[in-house]
Amino acid sequence: MMMQSPNIPSSGPIDLPLDGSVHSLWMPVNAAQGAADIDFAFYFILAICTFFFVLIVGLGILFVVKYRKRPGYVPKPSPHHSLKLEITWSVIPIILCVFMFWFGFTSYMHGRTMPAKAEQISVVAAKWRWEFQYGSPNRVSPELHVPVNEPVVMTMRSLDVIHSFFIPAFRTKLDVVPGRYSKVWFTPTKEGEYQLFCTEYCGTGHSGMAARVIVQSREDYEAWVAGLDVKDSDFPTAWQWGEYLFTKKGCAVCHHVDGTKLVGPPLNLAFGNERKFADGTSLVADENYIRESILVPGAKVVEGYPNAMTPYQGLVNDSELDGLIAYIKHLAGKP
Ligand code: CUA
Repeated sequence: MMMQSPNIPSSGPIDLPLDGSVHSLWMPVNAAQGAADIDFAFYFILAICTFFFVLIVGLGILFVVKYRKRPGYVPKPSPHHSLKLEITWSVIPIILCVFMFWFGFTSYMHGRTMPAKAEQISVVAAKWRWEFQYGSPNRVSPELHVPVNEPVVMTMRSLDVIHSFFIPAFRTKLDVVPGRYSKVWFTPTKEGEYQLFCTEYCGTGHSGMAARVIVQSREDYEAWVAGLDVKDSDFPTAWQWGEYLFTKKGCAVCHHVDGTKLVGPPLNLAFGNERKFADGTSLVADENYIRESILVPGAKVVEGYPNAMTPYQGLVNDSELDGLIAYIKHLAGKP
């Protein structure tokens, strides 16, 4: 009885764009509460800046031409101090700036004040993947699913460097910093599929550190979350459990299993073959080596690759390690 796995999440660099509007000259599709306010502030400031740019540069050019030195032109003496003019060009910009500040500050405070009741999702950022936890460490996915028309609070942490959580369609962006939690919230208003990007340069795999965001009805969301609770017993063999984990834990982001190089070495022929390391040593890959490479990847770095992998110590348990090792053995055709 081969169990089908409807919930195996997609992972790895995603095909961009999911939504062509990201390439629009104007703001991308707007799919969260409050996004319209942010757009208004942006367009308002853009309009003011454009108006004054054209006015100032236009007058500058006009005066250069009009008052240029030329035969027969006698310059008039400069006019005296004009209080009326001084007040006009001080007061109008102050009013505009106060309005911009007030508008930006109230929107910002609204975004920083967490709602009392909300769907809670934990986010773990690491080079170079996102992991979303839905209520329990067992329920994790590299995809972000959220219910429509409900506030959602994301509690985020990073395992290594500074990343940044950015969903353009929600106008939501916040840094994810190692050693502390950062919180962000939003209320998605339109069902559909959106993009999440890392927007803080975090190393080689930064540009691929993206994820799908799926906004769905409460029923669909709950059904999807319940389906994440996959037990190892749901898989007929250990390697199939491992294959599932390979995607779910984000391994596939940096390791291909078809022999091609990615950030990390391909893993299809790893097991049972000689590995050469950056420090000049080598060994034949066995279970202990694979285990060590998952938990403490920096211990033995394969020659020709960067020491780029985040340690998985504390992120995989022993049974999951068994599954992953079984999968890597299976790939190499070993029993
Ligand atoms: Cu993570 Cu850029």
